[in-house]
Amino acid sequence: MGGGAEMTLDEKTEAKLIAAAHEAAGHAYAPYSDYQVGAALLFDDGAVITGSNVENSSYGLALCAETVAIARALGEGRRGGLQAVAVVGPEDKGDGSPITPCGRCRQVVNELAQLGGTDPVVLCVGSDEVRRVALSTLLPHAFGPAHLA
Ligand code: THU
Repeated sequence: MGGGAEMTLDEKTEAKLIAAAHEAAGHAYAPYSDYQVGAALLFDDGAVITGSNVENSSYGLALCAETVAIARALGEGRRGGLQAVAVVGPEDKGDGSPITPCGRCRQVVNELAQLGGTDPVVLCVGSDEVRRVALSTLLPHAFGPAHLA
């Protein structure tokens, strides 16, 4: 599986992707948790696709920001080329340490990553630091589309 694990984004690209995730968090519909999350996906053609969490009065139906972003990307016809994912949460919650994608989102992101044979870097953004982790580190031995082929 090539690419992403060793890849680091240049400073400007990383800052732009994180800014896009911050902007997406501003569109979150999170009236029940009051925990606004934004995600931004970077593709190898430079495209950025964002998502924010979308909650529901039936609480368990909440969609995470990463899942919304991946659904948008797949819905636009993308089937690979995923280089990086930035995730940001609210700055006034938690202890300032970086947010990390929930388990379900790791699996959802993995689908698009495996389709294109990339191992995207996940930028987990906190108020004090950005943690850069390969998806394969967050989700080792992942089940994916190749298993069904
Ligand atoms: N949430 C995300 O959007 N992404 C994650 O990776 C973790 C959690 C959302 C789901 C819910 O709307 C709120 O954050 C609180 O869990």
